[in-house]
Amino acid sequence: MKKKLWGGRFTEQTKASVESFTESISFDWRLYKFDIEGSIAHATMLAQRKIITEKEKKEIIKGLEIILAEMNAGTFKFKKNLEDIHMNIESALIERIGEPAKKLHTARSRNDQVALDLRLWVREQILITSNYLTLVQQGLVKKGKEYFGAIMPGFTHMQHAQPILLSHYLLAYVEMFERDEKRLADCAKRLNESPLGACALAGTTLPTDPMITAKLLNFGSICQNSIDAVSDRDFCMEYVFALSLISMHLSRLCEEWIIWCNDEFSFIDISDAYCTGSSIMPQKKNPDVLELIRGKCGRVYSHLTTLLTLFKGLPLSYNRDMQEDKVAVFDAAETVHSMLNIFAELIANTRFNSERMKLACENGFSDATALAEYLVKLDVPFRKAHEIVGNIVRECVRLNRKIKDLDLETLKRHSHLITKDVFQVIGVENCVMNYKSSGSSAPRLVKNRLAHWERKLSKG
Ligand code: ARG
Repeated sequence: MKKKLWGGRFTEQTKASVESFTESISFDWRLYKFDIEGSIAHATMLAQRKIITEKEKKEIIKGLEIILAEMNAGTFKFKKNLEDIHMNIESALIERIGEPAKKLHTARSRNDQVALDLRLWVREQILITSNYLTLVQQGLVKKGKEYFGAIMPGFTHMQHAQPILLSHYLLAYVEMFERDEKRLADCAKRLNESPLGACALAGTTLPTDPMITAKLLNFGSICQNSIDAVSDRDFCMEYVFALSLISMHLSRLCEEWIIWCNDEFSFIDISDAYCTGSSIMPQKKNPDVLELIRGKCGRVYSHLTTLLTLFKGLPLSYNRDMQEDKVAVFDAAETVHSMLNIFAELIANTRFNSERMKLACENGFSDATALAEYLVKLDVPFRKAHEIVGNIVRECVRLNRKIKDLDLETLKRHSHLITKDVFQVIGVENCVMNYKSSGSSAPRLVKNRLAHWERKLSKG
C-alpha cells in the first residue's frame, strides 16, 4: 500500500470516494506559484536558523524551481489522490530530490501554509482587479471627453429631474470605481501580515524566526497570534466584499445602459460586435453583455454569502470546511475580472446619441428648479418660489408647452418679479451653464474634473 505523507498512524488505504470528496487540487492548483514561493522562503529561514543545512536548502530550492518550471509549462501531472496543491508539490519534491525534501515541512503545517498561499494569492489579485478598474475608468473618462458638452436628462425616481452633462454622469461612476480601488488598497494593508510560523495552530518548539520569512515574502509584519493566523479568512471576505461592490456599481451602470439602448430611449448604440441576436426574431439586437454583467453580479454576491456562512459557526482553529473558501474567492475574482474586462471593451464600442438625449431633456420641465432658484435670487423664499413654479408647470401641462415657450406676460402673472432675463435661466442649456456649486454639472467644473482624472489615471 502506497502510504500518504501523513499515513503513519493509518492501517487502511483511504477510500477512493473519500479522496475524490476531500480533494482540492482541482481548484487550488491556482496557488502553486505562491506555495513554491512560500516554501523557498521557509527553507531559507530553516537554513538561517540552522534547522537544516545550507546544502539541504539549496537542493530543496533547486527542486522547487524545477517543479515551478514544469507547472508553468503545463507539463506537471497533478494527482487527485495527493489531495491538494501542498501535498502535490511536497510529494513531487521528494520524488525528485529524495531525503532533503522530507525536511521542508519542519516547523510548518498545511494550516499556516494554506493561510499564507491564500494571502499571497489575494494580494496579487488585488493588483489585477485594480488594473481592470483603471481600464474601465479610463474608458469612461475618454467618452466623457469625446462627448463633452452633450446634455442629458438627469433622473430621480426614473423621472426627469434636472439637466446634466453626459460627462458628469459618466464621471459619477469613475468616482465610485475610485472608492472601490481604495477599498482594495485598504484590504491589502490589512492582509499585510505573514501567518507562516503559526504551524498547526500553536507555534513550534523549534528555533524558527517568522520575521525572516515575512521579510522574504514582502510582508510588513507577522500575525501576532498563531491561532488567529491559521483560523481567519477575513481578508478573503473583505476582498470579495470589495468585489461585490464593484459588481454592484457595474450592474447599476449596465441596467441603465440596457434601458438606454431600447427604442423608447435610444440614448446609446452599442456596436454589433458587442451585441447578440435572437434565434427566432430576425430584427433583434440584444445587449446580452450588459445583461450578463448584471446577472454575474448575483453570482459574486453569492460567494460573499458563502464565505460569511462558512465561517459563522467554525470553532477555532483550522477546520477542513475552510477548504471551500477557495472555490468562492477564486470564482469571485475571475468573474469580476471578466466583467470589468468586457465592459472596458464595450465602452469603447458604444456611441451616445447626444441629439436624442438633448431632445428627451427638453420634455419633463427639468428647468423648473432653475426657475425657482431665479426667484430665490429675487428674494422670494424658496418654499414660495417652489409653489409659484409648480403653478407655472401646471399651466404648461394644460397648454402643452415648455416653460421656455411661455411669454413674459404669462410668467409675470405668476410672479411680477419675473423680467425678461428669465430667458437666460430657463431652457436646458441655460440650466447647465448656470450651475455653480462644487461637484455640480457646471461645464467648467466637469471639464476640470475630466482633466483631473485623465492626469490621475495616466499615472497608473
Ligand atoms: N487543502 C486544505 C485547504 O485548502 C489545506 C489545509 C489542510 N490542512 C489539514 N490539516 N487538513 O484548506
